[in-house]
Amino acid sequence: MFAFSEENKERIPQVLAKYPTKQSALLPLLTMVQRQEGYVQPEAMVEIGKILELSPGYVQSVASFYTMYHMTPTGKYIILFCINISCQLNGADELLNHTAQKLNIKVGETTQDKKFTLHREECLAACSNAPMMRINDDYYEDLTKEKIDQILDSLD
Ligand code: FES
Repeated sequence: MFAFSEENKERIPQVLAKYPTKQSALLPLLTMVQRQEGYVQPEAMVEIGKILELSPGYVQSVASFYTMYHMTPTGKYIILFCINISCQLNGADELLNHTAQKLNIKVGETTQDKKFTLHREECLAACSNAPMMRINDDYYEDLTKEKIDQILDSLD
């Protein structure tokens, strides 16, 4: 069962007012759901479809196109580890393996305490500071194993 929080219910008309058609607010509403729930479940897509007059299938097709939206429950911190060319040439594969080992999970999994979810990601447009990863909304660049350990240990 999904329901927008009271706060988000109040925000929805403000979001819709920013766009020429209500359908244009699809990505912002998907983002709103993901920030509220941590992922976008099917019931939320139905609800968004009702608000925007879009079919649930259409909402799902858009949501599934973008790797930033998650269709299954995630950890508190979602790590998107860039494995594209600049990051790869600077050791991303080894650093990703190090991160997975440190968290004791495989790529795509969530830690047992639901704190971290680890994903590979394509270029996140911080190539000049490769290798890098994004955790939720923050970028972490010029990574080394030591830096990754410090970052992960510093997150509550
Ligand atoms: S290749 Fe990693 S940020 Fe562009």
